[in-house]
Amino acid sequence: MPPTRGQERTGEGLIVIGPRTGLIAALDVGSSKICCFIAQAEADGRIRVIGGAHQASAGIRNGCVVDMQAAQRAVVETVGVAEQRAGEQVQRVVVNLSAGEFRSSMCRIEVAIDGHQIGDADLRRMRRQSLESLQSEDRAVLHCKPVGYDIDGHRGVRDPRGMFGEVLGARYHQVTVAAATVRNLHNCIAHCHLEIEDVVVSPCASGLACLVEDEKEIGVTLLDMGGGTTTIASFVGGEMVFADSVPVGSNHITKDIACGLSTPLGDAERMKILCGDAGTSLSDDNELIDVPVVGEGAHQEANHVRRSILAGIVGPRIEEIFELVRERLELAHLDPTVSQRFVLTGGGAQLQGLQRFAELVLCKQVRIGRPLRISGLPEANAGPAFAVCAGLLRHGVERHGDFRDDETDRGRGRRLSGVRRWLKECF
Ligand SMILES: Nc1ncnc2c1ncn2[C@@H]1O[C@H](COP(=O)(O)OP(=O)(O)OP(=O)(O)O)[C@@H](O)[C@H]1O
Ligand SMILES: [Mg+2]
Repeated sequence: MPPTRGQERTGEGLIVIGPRTGLIAALDVGSSKICCFIAQAEADGRIRVIGGAHQASAGIRNGCVVDMQAAQRAVVETVGVAEQRAGEQVQRVVVNLSAGEFRSSMCRIEVAIDGHQIGDADLRRMRRQSLESLQSEDRAVLHCKPVGYDIDGHRGVRDPRGMFGEVLGARYHQVTVAAATVRNLHNCIAHCHLEIEDVVVSPCASGLACLVEDEKEIGVTLLDMGGGTTTIASFVGGEMVFADSVPVGSNHITKDIACGLSTPLGDAERMKILCGDAGTSLSDDNELIDVPVVGEGAHQEANHVRRSILAGIVGPRIEEIFELVRERLELAHLDPTVSQRFVLTGGGAQLQGLQRFAELVLCKQVRIGRPLRISGLPEANAGPAFAVCAGLLRHGVERHGDFRDDETDRGRGRRLSGVRRWLKECF
């Protein structure tokens, strides 16, 4: 039975998320959980969550929709509970994407200024050119932002508006994903009677939530360690300069434990969370844990294994993830400062001993990231697993700021609705 959320709504009491209401809704469609936050953007830019909900994911594997109906049901239920808690109904959501084979590239654009004062229209012309350079049937553009301007060859210009010159140049960082992956996500959300305000690559959203400005300025790489994927975003000079994803996440550790110890997946998950360790913080090597046997009922006595055996299963998988990340970063030939420090977030970053283990494997400074500068989140929803959803809210607030700029710049020009604008840019 397909979900029915919103079908009975007539528009009365429906809150259109946007700059006029100050309401933002974020939807994290994850492989392990679906999460929705509804928030109020305060005048000073702060974000206050007024309602949120999350539940086990369904129909999503390694970040992709694999069962449309199951995914729709999970989205409808989660958004419905968040709406009840917020006391508001929402129509548009900012949503994330963790899969679809991210392709990250830099593109240089130059436009003639011919001595006039640079304005928003010039920046929009450059952005259009940058997007045109990516036109492709099978790829959708999810990110296209300048990472530095130059005027007549003088580099290091942060914001060229108001300045004069002959030639304005910029480097754009662009991230594309498989168009089919985005279409499936779009379809799924549309069938839940929701519009997509914008789609954001997951690690970019996590970066918005967890990183401080200085980190983004001097260089940092963030890993969002989810259930089915580990997504990567590198920042320097205040901007994201690289994004990628590997289809291995913390759920793979659960499966490794289940296979290695012949125990049910549910017990393997519990063991990972309660006793799992990357192997660097075990104080008592002989500590025994109960391991129920797969296929046997509760009457069968559990096996007992040393905690260090469990660590011996968990450690190699984490090491593999870091190796894959390192390979991707090396292939990208980035500014070396971005891999001087790492921030680990996502539910998988809560594994005991992970920070120390990552420092040893990556030989870099590592910290665990959780959502910052956001109020109203209950303690249980303020950890690393909620970084993406919190970041989607931040993106929504910043995007509405952009809308205001656009409207001012265009006078009373026609404003595209969020979804039309997004579709127009993507495809
Ligand atoms: N305390 C913990 N220790 C270890 N792992 C944990 C802990 N808490 C949650 N996890 C793991 O984190 C993963 C879920 O993380 P998260 O909620 O970020 O995933 P997701 O966003 O749904 O997935 P994805 O981003 O891959 O689509 C699960 O594999 C879960 O077992
Ligand atoms: Mg995730």
